[in-house]
Parts: sequence; structure tokens; C-alpha cells
Amino acid sequence: MPPSWISGRAAFGRPCVLAAPLAEITDSAFRQVSFSCGADGAVTEMVCAAGLVRGSRPSAALLSRLPTERGWCAAQLYGHDPDELAAAARAVAASGAFDAVDLNAGCPMRRIVANGDGAALMRDETLFARCVEAMARAVSPLPLTVKTRIGLDPSRPAAARLARLAERAGAAAIIVHGRFASRFHEGPPDWALVSEAVEAVSIPVVANGGVNSADDALAAIAATGAAGVMVGRGAVGNPWLFGEIRAAFEGAPAPRGRDDLSGEELLEALRRHLALAMEAKRLSFRIAGGENPAEGGDAARAACRDPESAVALDARRHLINYFRGRPGASALRRAAQSARTPDELLDAAREAVAAFRV
Ligand SMILES: Cc1cc2nc3c(=O)[nH]c(=O)nc-3n(C[C@H](O)[C@H](O)[C@H](O)COP(=O)(O)O)c2cc1C
Repeated sequence: MPPSWISGRAAFGRPCVLAAPLAEITDSAFRQVSFSCGADGAVTEMVCAAGLVRGSRPSAALLSRLPTERGWCAAQLYGHDPDELAAAARAVAASGAFDAVDLNAGCPMRRIVANGDGAALMRDETLFARCVEAMARAVSPLPLTVKTRIGLDPSRPAAARLARLAERAGAAAIIVHGRFASRFHEGPPDWALVSEAVEAVSIPVVANGGVNSADDALAAIAATGAAGVMVGRGAVGNPWLFGEIRAAFEGAPAPRGRDDLSGEELLEALRRHLALAMEAKRLSFRIAGGENPAEGGDAARAACRDPESAVALDARRHLINYFRGRPGASALRRAAQSARTPDELLDAAREAVAAFRV
């Protein structure tokens, strides 16, 4: 078995850098691109444990992996019933497709929390521990990881307590998003509270939140002593960030980053990403039984009845971020809004590169 970040800093002799779960973004294509740029691991977007247990094909489709996707990956589940979470986790482990299962104990979205899932697990710490314990037992010998927050709101900081509970219940590692659930994804992370979690346990703790550059990653490690960082939005359209962070952790010279690449090089990276995204989307439509596996009632996504238009919609934000800050970026953004297929998106990018000497 190759070393995995789960064994802590000893695995690579440096902190690790992971790709965060981002619903509707972290598909097999995005993960593959992230690995090829230097990510040590990734977590899938969250998938409903109850859906998996019911045999929902769209839920299963969200866990699809392209045969070419190689890299450490955990399947993330959400729910609140320990038995249901354990059954879903067992099925994921039995599939042999993943290196770990991750429990979502931090999602603040209303429809998730109202159901007692995600961040709501922080409200009932006994239930939180029971969920972790049931899942850890179900997936063993695979590791169970937990992604949580520093607490529900500033009146209830809970990072160290949750870390201790998770460790005692059998978690192999914890990822702590350094923002309270009440803050959703805004504001600076509170590294002092993440550091309390690091101090409280002996399993690896990964720091997440607001890491958008190699300097941010170094600062996060210096402030928390964490086993690594997890990068979310900063890597959307900028997967090179993983390599930059990795080099900074190794003390190696910085590799070429997004801002060093020519317009043609960005275009080529986008073309490769879109080709993978098409493969990934075809695979997930097939597993979903010909249906769009988009979860969560997003009307625009659900309206995409074929993989091509679904990829065009999903890939807009990648495209816009690939060319962020370049001349012509706002014209490109407008053109991308009306593209209906990946080819139209690429054409828009090609025109921008030619017209603006990007
Ligand atoms: C669009 C979006 C989707 C997300 N989806 C998930 C998810 O499925 N599971 C999860 O644990 N966190 C999810 N998150 C939270 C991220 O994993 C991460 O914790 C958060 O974005 C903070 O990291 P960042 O500041 O580097 O983006 C999501 C965040 C965003 C913005």
C-alpha cells in the first residue's frame, strides 16, 4: 500500500494537502485533475446515506470514479441515524472503490440541518459519537474520517471536544473547517480553535478554510500544527495550487502556477478537464439509469437532461476561474453563460485567448 496522509506527517515527511468535498464540483474529473497537480488526497461531495441504503441510483452515481482516477479518495456520507450511516458506509467499503469513508458533520445548509444531518450532528454530541462509532466499526479495516467545524456558533466552540469524541469513537483522522456553522463559508478561519483540536488528540487533524495560496497553507500549519491542509474554493479553476502548496511544504522552489501559464496553456488544461468531465458525467448518468444525478433540488441542474448540457453548466465556474484576472475575463464570463455544450465553452475560451492575447 502506498503511504497515505492518514498516518500523519510521517507519510510524506511534510504536511499533506487535500482537495475538499465541494457539492456539484468535486466529481471524478476534478479529483483526477487535482491529483495530477499534486493533491495527496480528496473527498467526494457529500452523498445521502439513506439514499444509498434505499438503493437510489442517483446517490450511487455521485460516488462514481473513472477508471483513470488514481489517488487517495474518501467517500463522504451524510445522515444522522447510526445504523443507516453504518449500512451505507459498509456498502461503500465493500465496493472496494474508496480508501476511506468520511462523515459529514459540518454542512450548514438549511435542508440538511433541518433533517438533523451535517452540522446538526454538532448539536447532539452523544449522537455524533454514536454515528462515528457505528461507521468506524462498519468500514474497518478501512479508515473512517470525520469532517467537522469548530462549532455551531461562536457561543459554542466545540472543536477540541468533537475531536476527542471522534478519536475515542474510532475515527482515524479529522478535518476541521475553522469556521462556525453559523458563518457558512465566510470570514477568516479561527486557527486557534483548530489548534486546540490538534492538541486534544493524537490522530491527524487537517486544517480547512480560506487556504487560497501557498503562504496561507504555511500560515495555517504554523498556527495550528495540523497534519495538513484541505483546500476548497481556492482550487476551483486553479488546481495548480495543490502543487504550489506541496512545494512550499517541501521547501522546494515554487512550480509554475496559474498566473505563470500562457492563455494557450490554460486553454489546453481546460480542454483536458472538460474531456474528463464529459467522461465522468456520462458514467454518472449511466449509473443513475439515464437520469441526471444532481442532488439537492437545483432546478437548473435538474433541467439538464443530457450529459453535455450538464457538463456545460457545471464547467462554467471552472472556466471562469481558470481565466480569472486575465484580460477579457469578464467578456469570457458573459460568453460562458450562454454556452450550451462543452465545445461551446471551449470556443468561448479560444476566442477570448485570441481576442485579448490572454
Ligand atoms: C459550493 C460548496 C460545496 C460544498 N460541499 C461540501 C460537501 O459536499 N461536503 C462538505 O463536507 N463540505 C462541503 N463544502 C465545504 C468545503 O468542503 C470547505 O469546508 C469550505 O469551502 C471551506 O474551505 P475553503 O475556504 O477552502 O473553500 C462545500 C463548500 C462550498 C462552497
